[in-house]
Amino acid sequence: MRSTPLLRSLAAVAVSASGCQAATNATINSQVRLAYAGDSGMVVSWNTFQHLDQPTVKFGLSPGNLSETVSSDVSVTYATSLTYNNHVKITGLKPDTTYYYAPVGLLKDNTTTLPYSFRTSRAAGDTTPYSIAVVVDMGTMGAQGLTTSAGKGISPNNILKKGENNTIDSLTAVLDSYEFLWHPGDIAYADYWLKEEIQGFLPNTTIADGVKVYESILNDYYDELTPVTTTKPYMVGPGNHESNCDNGGTTDSSKNITYTVDICMPGQTNFTGYRNHFRMPSTESGGTGNFWYSFDHGMVHYVQLDTETDLGHGYIGNDEIGGSEGDDSGPFNQLMNAQTNWLAADLASVDRTITPWVIVAGHRPWYLSHANASGTICWTCKDVFEPLLMQYGVDLVLSGHSHVYQRNAPLANGVVDPNELNNPTAPWYITNGAAGHYDGLDSLQVPYQTYQRFGLDTTNATFGWSRLTFHNCTHLTHDFVASNNGTVLDTATLYKDHECNPEPVCG
Ligand SMILES: *[C@@H]1O[C@H](CO)[C@@H](O)[C@H](O)[C@H]1NC(C)=O
Ligand SMILES: *[C@@H]1O[C@H](CO)[C@@H](O)[C@H](O)[C@H]1NC(C)=O
Ligand SMILES: *[C@@H]1O[C@H](CO)[C@@H](O)[C@H](O)[C@H]1NC(C)=O
Ligand SMILES: *[C@@H]1O[C@H](CO)[C@@H](O)[C@H](O)[C@H]1NC(C)=O
Ligand SMILES: *[C@@H]1O[C@H](CO)[C@@H](O)[C@H](O)[C@H]1NC(C)=O
Ligand SMILES: *[C@@H]1O[C@H](CO)[C@@H](O)[C@H](O)[C@H]1NC(C)=O
Ligand SMILES: *[C@@H]1O[C@H](CO)[C@@H](O)[C@H](O)[C@H]1NC(C)=O
Ligand SMILES: *[C@@H]1O[C@H](CO)[C@@H](O)[C@H](O)[C@H]1NC(C)=O
Ligand SMILES: *[C@@H]1O[C@H](CO)[C@@H](O)[C@H](O)[C@H]1NC(C)=O
Ligand SMILES: *[C@@H]1O[C@H](CO)[C@@H](O)[C@H](O)[C@H]1NC(C)=O
Ligand SMILES: *[C@@H]1O[C@H](CO)[C@@H](O)[C@H](O)[C@H]1NC(C)=O
Repeated sequence: MRSTPLLRSLAAVAVSASGCQAATNATINSQVRLAYAGDSGMVVSWNTFQHLDQPTVKFGLSPGNLSETVSSDVSVTYATSLTYNNHVKITGLKPDTTYYYAPVGLLKDNTTTLPYSFRTSRAAGDTTPYSIAVVVDMGTMGAQGLTTSAGKGISPNNILKKGENNTIDSLTAVLDSYEFLWHPGDIAYADYWLKEEIQGFLPNTTIADGVKVYESILNDYYDELTPVTTTKPYMVGPGNHESNCDNGGTTDSSKNITYTVDICMPGQTNFTGYRNHFRMPSTESGGTGNFWYSFDHGMVHYVQLDTETDLGHGYIGNDEIGGSEGDDSGPFNQLMNAQTNWLAADLASVDRTITPWVIVAGHRPWYLSHANASGTICWTCKDVFEPLLMQYGVDLVLSGHSHVYQRNAPLANGVVDPNELNNPTAPWYITNGAAGHYDGLDSLQVPYQTYQRFGLDTTNATFGWSRLTFHNCTHLTHDFVASNNGTVLDTATLYKDHECNPEPVCG
């Protein structure tokens, strides 16, 4: 729905004396973050208040000898941002090697200690077992997001209990147990600011000042995740909550107002913050921006898809103009069917004797125990992606968007693979959108889909993340880890009769 001039003028006079909780120079840290950049590269990104002519990272093989220096000229910002995003790509690194590093010009941060360190990805074909962590739908924790209280009408099952560890705590507690963090969309939930105000959780401010609350939530989130992102690559994908400032339309029913994307400042539309903040390896993989890309790591080829825009084939993406979300974003590639053409070529180029595992993530699911509504279940995504995922024998498809945990059987065109997890032909599907954000969890629809094998939703009141463990070329385990205590509440192992690489590649 488009807002009329009348609604917009009503919004403009919504004034209150309460201040917003905008982040200030005193509270923002540099939000240092890492991303794999091909087999021998790493992007180091961090924020500063000033533009840097030459963002610079010092690094080396020992903490006391950061003898190498790399610089770039990438220091970017956008309207409404308090900071500049600096990005430096380091290339020519050795695989599976720990480097120590320090970006130059960091903001004050008393939660981490320099130099930081990262480990490069294992060479493709390295058969060493390892684990990764996956979260979808993770928002800021604490005073502006998920905490022990919420606004009007929020179920106690959708907030934290007193003293309960949240997902960022949990990921921090077991930092050494995973090699990178994958986050396929819905990052921070800054676009919840208006909902949080309307529900009385955040102090009411004006629509005009809302930009500051949005930025504050975004900065809060990136600050909080720093203990993880300074040392583990943080690979991200687009979700609908990255696209604009008010979740594509927020209703204040007491005032009979539905706000639309029209209230958003230019810096808070069209995935602008997301595009500035990250540098995913699309250059290395022929993808598009932070929207779709792939990378290898040991036995695995990882593919990030964009379920929000650029579906091609005549479909309007959910977050595009005319799409289900009212987000008016994208497209990000002007070529016809750019994403699926890329996906077909990318999957066709995988040498399964080198990387026997192919894991795909996209924000929205299409196999879910949920009402058959277009907004939650992405039928168009199924149409454009599933045939390719089947054709190229993708092993596992991860998603979120719905704030539930649902492990399914392997499926092809809605039909359960009779082999289940014992060497199926069809891809295995898992949705885990239970990482947590302001107002928490959703419901699975009863009766569950016959292909569902395990589920957790708001009735179980449990937040959690996914751990994938690649044991060898034939066995992959998925665990649902409860954030409150680190317990595994669901575990399942997929067996695939992959042809194994006979000669392990050594770094
Ligand atoms: C803030 O409060 C004013 C005055 O009570 C009200 O008109 C306005 O709708 C409120 N704004 C929001 C975003 O809740
Ligand atoms: C933050 O500090 C820089 C100078 O260090 C200043 O230019 C900028 O205006 C400050 N921003 C805010 C929001 O205080
Ligand atoms: C520091 O590292 C560089 C290359 O990585 C090396 O050439 C140099 O000798 C090292 N210096 C010390 C003091 O270890
Ligand atoms: C970091 O500094 C802030 C502001 O000075 C303080 O409130 C906070 O407790 C400190 N945190 C730690 C972990 O020392
Ligand atoms: C909770 O999180 C903290 C911070 O990461 C960690 O030290 C602690 O071990 C965690 N507790 C549990 C029960 O997981
Ligand atoms: C709410 O606003 C719409 C116009 O946007 C109007 O048609 C409707 O009558 C209003 N409802 C109430 C209860 O005021
Ligand atoms: C969003 O940004 C992309 C890339 O700059 C641009 O091509 C597209 O037209 C923009 N979409 C909207 C709705 O502004
Ligand atoms: C759900 O909606 C899709 C797309 O509109 C349709 O193809 C499908 O048949 C529907 N399924 C059910 C069970 O209603
Ligand atoms: C989750 O809650 C539902 C509804 O109470 C219950 O049927 C189900 O057994 C619970 N699942 C687990 C794993 O506890
Ligand atoms: C692969 O890993 C699984 C799970 O740990 C184990 O049961 C199996 O024996 C391993 N296969 C080989 C060939 O080592
Ligand atoms: C850990 O938390 C989960 C979810 O709240 C609960 O079901 C489980 O019993 C807890 N396990 C332990 C060992 O406390």
